[in-house]
Amino acid sequence: MNRGESHNPPEKDRRKEPRTDPQRTAHHDLIFAFARASEQHDADVGDHLHHIRAIVELIALQMGFVENDAEDLGYDAMLHDVGKLHVPADVLNKRDELTEEERQLIQSHTTHGEVMLQQRPGTSRAARIARSHHESWDGTGYPDGLEGEAIPLEARITAAADMLDALLADRSYKDAWSYDRAIQAVLAERGRQLDPGVADALRACHEAGSLRRVYDM
Ligand SMILES: [Fe+2]
Ligand SMILES: [Fe+2]
Repeated sequence: MNRGESHNPPEKDRRKEPRTDPQRTAHHDLIFAFARASEQHDADVGDHLHHIRAIVELIALQMGFVENDAEDLGYDAMLHDVGKLHVPADVLNKRDELTEEERQLIQSHTTHGEVMLQQRPGTSRAARIARSHHESWDGTGYPDGLEGEAIPLEARITAAADMLDALLADRSYKDAWSYDRAIQAVLAERGRQLDPGVADALRACHEAGSLRRVYDM
């Protein structure tokens, strides 16, 4: 390579960049910064947000989302827990059993997240994810006890990614599970906690090897 090229990337190299829309890039960058800022508050988070983004994108692609939309959805999902900024750090990171009041406080991260994100149209999908990512396909989740397709699809996808990554992470209250144990446990929730269609897409990503690669990065 000659020197001119290394100092001044030619036009053709810039065209290789997957994201060419500066507005989308700026939107993604802001989401990333906001998600990182909220992460500081939660000692357990670690790489969780990056895994969520990648897994949600994989599931969405498998379910037929077009590429840009799957990528945007991955970024929106990074904001699922921003409402935790409203939960005191000592409650969020408590190792002992929670009181009923503390449990409710933690669960309120869903509704707080929605309020934070629903102010502007550009984060309205992220707001839906924040509110509904702890809903369960069988209706046993929170905050609304929604059932089946009444739960927004983007929240059903995020829920599957969130469940898998929670099992694979070291948390203050548990050790990390192996990948094989975690994926089997998540797939067993098909039709219980998880949308069967989302679980099938997750299984396809697992069988293709793309899911495991998220954890090799
Ligand atoms: Fe959450
Ligand atoms: Fe999460």
